[in-house]
Amino acid sequence: MIVGGEAELALLLHLFPEGVEELDGAFAVYAEEPPIGFDMIEAEDVREGWEDAWKDFHHGVAIGRLWVGPPWEPPPAGLVPVVIDPGRAFGTGAHPTTRLCLELLQEAEPTSLVDVGSGSGVLSIAAAKLGFAPVGAFDLDEVAMETTAANAEANGAGVNVLDELRPAALAVMNIALDVVEGLLPKLRVERAIVSGYLERDDPRAAGWQRLDRRVLDGWAADVLEFRP
Ligand SMILES: C[S@@+](CC[C@H](N)C(=O)[O-])C[C@H]1O[C@@H](n2cnc3c(N)ncnc32)[C@H](O)[C@@H]1O
Repeated sequence: MIVGGEAELALLLHLFPEGVEELDGAFAVYAEEPPIGFDMIEAEDVREGWEDAWKDFHHGVAIGRLWVGPPWEPPPAGLVPVVIDPGRAFGTGAHPTTRLCLELLQEAEPTSLVDVGSGSGVLSIAAAKLGFAPVGAFDLDEVAMETTAANAEANGAGVNVLDELRPAALAVMNIALDVVEGLLPKLRVERAIVSGYLERDDPRAAGWQRLDRRVLDGWAADVLEFRP
């Protein structure tokens, strides 16, 4: 059990998409391995059925005209389903930064797109279903690449898993602030939807200017344009 407050809850949800539970003023996280670097006050014996208990935390969410949900929930009629089996990769659609990116994608003109840090593939799959093409997905993590490919296939979404960053009209990148700032100069795109950081943060990179900003629960997402 990890003692903490609201900020810790937000961080824990980011780090443990498998699930976080508030119990008597403390947080329990669901993880396959004991989390490294956290102050472990108590480790409870796992209760029966723990393998499936984390599923209780994954519910579908409607974001504009999209529904992002797990395979064990039926998608509601009238919304575009993005079915995500999170596996071990980040991105169920529930995190505020993912939600903000999904909102901003729905307002963008469908063009070619590269998803940098694709995780579960949620943003790539949503983009493909919104009419973006071609859609490329790139992640440093091999498990994320495999999860993106599997989820894209299960959704029948046209997503190309990339072995390197490719040029596109638009990039979407939901990672941490320092990674976003480090990758912006390497992108060969006209615009970028970026997130993964807090409202107080302001991503900066030479030639990039902010066109729009959204905030949710203390997190932020920006639309940036490259004007060399
Ligand atoms: C917060 S998750 C975002 C997942 C998903 N795109 C979403 O919005 O829910 C960030 C992902 O970025 C990946 N990542 C971190 N650093 C990266 C880098 N330098 N290049 C590419 N991917 C990176 C991580 O492996 C992780 O899958």
